[in-house]
Amino acid sequence: MKDLCVIGVGYVGLVTAAGFADLGNRVTALDINEERVRNLRKGILPIYEPGLEEVVRRNVQAGRLAFTTSYDEALSKAEFAFIAVGTPEGVDGEADLRYVRDAAESIARSMQGPLIVINKSTVPVGTGDWVSEIIRSHLPKPLRFAVVSCPEFLREGSALADFLNPARTVLGSMDHEAAEKVAQLHIPLRAPIVITDLRTAEMIKYASNAFLATKISFINEIANICEALGADVKEVATGMGYDPRIGRQFLEAGIGYGGSCFPKDVKALAHMASVQGRNPQLLQAVMDINEDRMRMVLEHIESLSGPFGRKDIGLLGLAFKPNTDDIREAPALKIAGLLLGRGAAVRAYDPVAMDAAARALPTLRMCPDPYALAEGADALVVVTDWNEFKQLDLSRIHKLMRTPNLIDGRNIYEPEEMKAIGFRYRGIGRGYDGSDAAAKRPADKARPR
Ligand code: NAD
Ligand code: UGA
Repeated sequence: MKDLCVIGVGYVGLVTAAGFADLGNRVTALDINEERVRNLRKGILPIYEPGLEEVVRRNVQAGRLAFTTSYDEALSKAEFAFIAVGTPEGVDGEADLRYVRDAAESIARSMQGPLIVINKSTVPVGTGDWVSEIIRSHLPKPLRFAVVSCPEFLREGSALADFLNPARTVLGSMDHEAAEKVAQLHIPLRAPIVITDLRTAEMIKYASNAFLATKISFINEIANICEALGADVKEVATGMGYDPRIGRQFLEAGIGYGGSCFPKDVKALAHMASVQGRNPQLLQAVMDINEDRMRMVLEHIESLSGPFGRKDIGLLGLAFKPNTDDIREAPALKIAGLLLGRGAAVRAYDPVAMDAAARALPTLRMCPDPYALAEGADALVVVTDWNEFKQLDLSRIHKLMRTPNLIDGRNIYEPEEMKAIGFRYRGIGRGYDGSDAAAKRPADKARPR
């Protein structure tokens, strides 16, 4: 049993704290947000994440997990301090490191003995050295410490499961002994452990996110071509995915990647490259393709339902992905904003993200369920692939709509089944779904010569 402090109780921090407590360690989780800490002490979580509430409750009851706003209290016995604060997008796409800096300064002021500081936040290459420098220059008296980078690879919506079953653990430090100690903490997770230097570990995180974002933009580009040529991108992805060198995951074409990480991390990596005089051409294309998805969705909606003025458009889903209430960089909010700007009346339903979305976009009308959303609508747009949308009574939805236009931004339905119900249906990159391009496709033009 080790004594750990986790700084920041957001998606990464709370999961890390609960996860390490569940592995038998004593964890104090700290946040400067007093309301979050007050609520956590009452068992109220600041985020929606499947399974997390139960693990938090169990470990609090067992005395292995506590919450505080005091750095002195959190660091009084800690041997390890994890930094898991936000690193949002700053000016020109650069990562904003103010929270990391504040955390490092506070650690220095409050640490009371030797400490291993582990950075879990996604930070630009070189930040570990900078954090070391901040701690050294703010220590009131000389104390031994080391900085280890341990990037986090969890996904929202399956964060706890990902934390407990990681594909790998990456550790980077100039202090090999410290990295080995951090490796010991991770051994119960039974994943391969890669130990490298600080900068390489920091780069592994950005390269991983950029690669996944690239896969998404790649398949979205293929989807565009499929639409024009009458091929089905879902089957293309399946056919490609059996090749182990390619893999089926992250080849879901749709309305593009959102969330608090891919958009900012691809930008931050491109920024790092540009600052060094390198030309991040591929990253730029990945971002451009993703940006273009919004225009594409609007075109699909307009081509089915006509000009937006006075049209009632319903959005199925607001969260940037299923199983989370996170709406940071959610495509739904961008689509809603664009539609409202063009005169449409926009309403939405999401199983958990409506409160957060209403705060971000107060003009968006919320509906209590998908059927209320469908009533009198001119078009429905699937924006988030929540499981509950896959099992809707679509005949009932069809009857409730004023005009049965269905734009499936996540390809969760089968085109033929939707047409059989009577919808005018448009998926993404599904060339034979009756889209204009496919319908107009001259047979001889599509045939290889
Ligand atoms: P978040 O915004 O959900 O939570 C950050 C928390 O840090 C907030 O509760 C905030 O109050 C707290 N905080 C800010 N400054 C602080 C300080 N000085 N001292 C103590 N607490 C402070 O952030 P998140 O989504 O958990 O992301 C954290 C980091 O992890 C980011 O760098 C992100 O890129 C990275 N990451 C996120 C995910 C994810 O799925 N969200 C996955 C992998 C990596
Ligand atoms: C992503 C990575 O998957 C995690 O490994 C990483 O730790 C995390 O970012 C991070 O650094 O924060 P997350 O953003 O939670 O996790 O969710 P993903 O499942 O990766 O989805 C991101 C976005 O891509 C979503 O908008 C999703 O709808 C979209 N996506 C995903 C697609 O459009 N197609 C796909 O095939 C997969």
